[in-house]
Amino acid sequence: MSKDKLWGGRFTQPTDKFVEEFTASIDFDKRLYRQDIRGSIAHAKMLGRQGIIPAEDVVAIENGLTDILAQIEAGNFDFSVSLEDIHMNIEARLSAKIGDAGKRLHTGRSRNDQVALDIRLYLRDELVEICGYLDRLIDSLLFQAEENLSVIMPGFTHLQTAQPILFSHHMMAYVEMLKRDKGRMEDCLKRTNVLPLGAGALAGTTFPIDREYVAELLDFPQVTRNSLDSVSDRDFGLEFCSASSILMMHLSRFSEELILWSTSEFRFVELTDSFCTGSSIMPQKKNPDVPELVRGKTGRVYGNLISLLTVMKSLPLAYNKDMQEDKEPLFDTIDTVKGSLKIFADMVREMKVRPDRMRQAAAAGFSTATDVADYLVRKGIAFRDAHEIVGKAVRYGIETGKDLDQFSTAEWKAFSEAIDADIADAITLEASVNARKATGGTALERVKAEIDRARAEQKQ
Ligand code: ARG
Repeated sequence: MSKDKLWGGRFTQPTDKFVEEFTASIDFDKRLYRQDIRGSIAHAKMLGRQGIIPAEDVVAIENGLTDILAQIEAGNFDFSVSLEDIHMNIEARLSAKIGDAGKRLHTGRSRNDQVALDIRLYLRDELVEICGYLDRLIDSLLFQAEENLSVIMPGFTHLQTAQPILFSHHMMAYVEMLKRDKGRMEDCLKRTNVLPLGAGALAGTTFPIDREYVAELLDFPQVTRNSLDSVSDRDFGLEFCSASSILMMHLSRFSEELILWSTSEFRFVELTDSFCTGSSIMPQKKNPDVPELVRGKTGRVYGNLISLLTVMKSLPLAYNKDMQEDKEPLFDTIDTVKGSLKIFADMVREMKVRPDRMRQAAAAGFSTATDVADYLVRKGIAFRDAHEIVGKAVRYGIETGKDLDQFSTAEWKAFSEAIDADIADAITLEASVNARKATGGTALERVKAEIDRARAEQKQ
């Protein structure tokens, strides 16, 4: 048995069957097959170019690996647990196919720098894809903001009606968050996009390798500068999990709002039927499963960050087998983030907005009370005094069942002589929204300018 192993030389007893299963990673790291093959071809080319292996071996290796790639993609490759991981599964198959040339592939390399390379290659492509998904969701938000540009809704603090805002302004708040998320992913890409191969097991290699050439072949703008760090570093994975956690936190907040807004109490939006499910017992139900699930999946993404941080905590340099546990949290985060972004982009684009309901809610709850106070300030009253006056007016409104826009001028005058008939124009929902013109405010012209700005940025 030990003789099957690529490292079997120093062993006299076979590996225990359960130990073999327990230590194997092939079940989850097989998804790195393409990166593993790409990295091996580049490594072989460099070995050949440096005269470390014969030129004809390079050709045999490249052809052999290309065949194996085709086999895996066609589903004709038998992955073996006794060969532990993707690296040894592919290498063993290659040697079985092409003999000695295959056995020379691992010259000047270790699985420690090989696995670091594979994960970086894998994550690099996924990061680019995730940025594409972020763009799609940003597009959907911009679409809703443009379609409903002047729709007014209540803005909340403490989930209590605060001030009227534009629905488009609310959508644009998520655009801001997602743009930052994209920035974090792009930043993570910079540190992921560094070639670790050439570190060997930990100390470098005695062969005259050319790492810069491998970097060129694999499109890495940089190579790592310390062999110990090259095989021990998983910061890029941690950065990705951390950026993903923040991103999922944003999606969970949006989910929560969509769930709330879809209730019969709010009815601000309606999610299309294709994004909801019914109840097996209550015929009237239409449940917002998609945002609920995205909100729920935020948990596993946070968990993955904590798993990876904990796996890496206190590990002495350089490689330790613990680090094999890096893959599942990383892969699960990639899958969850991609799935959530994809489904959100479609759901947001298709959701139906209810301007009538939003407006009705915005008009209730004394949402323009601050505008009355600001009006008084413009008439020369200090803000704190104005606040007190309007507070009393609100209490009067509650007692008499009147909204602020239903007060007569005489009723207003009872609270302050400074109030004239022009108060009516100052406290319409439109006046309230459009008065907030400074950068970042909810005024229509300001939101429109921000949408245009974001659209232009998206086109770059
Ligand atoms: N399967 C291993 C991992 O994912 C590959 C590196 C193994 N290296 C070693 N020295 N055992 O981390």
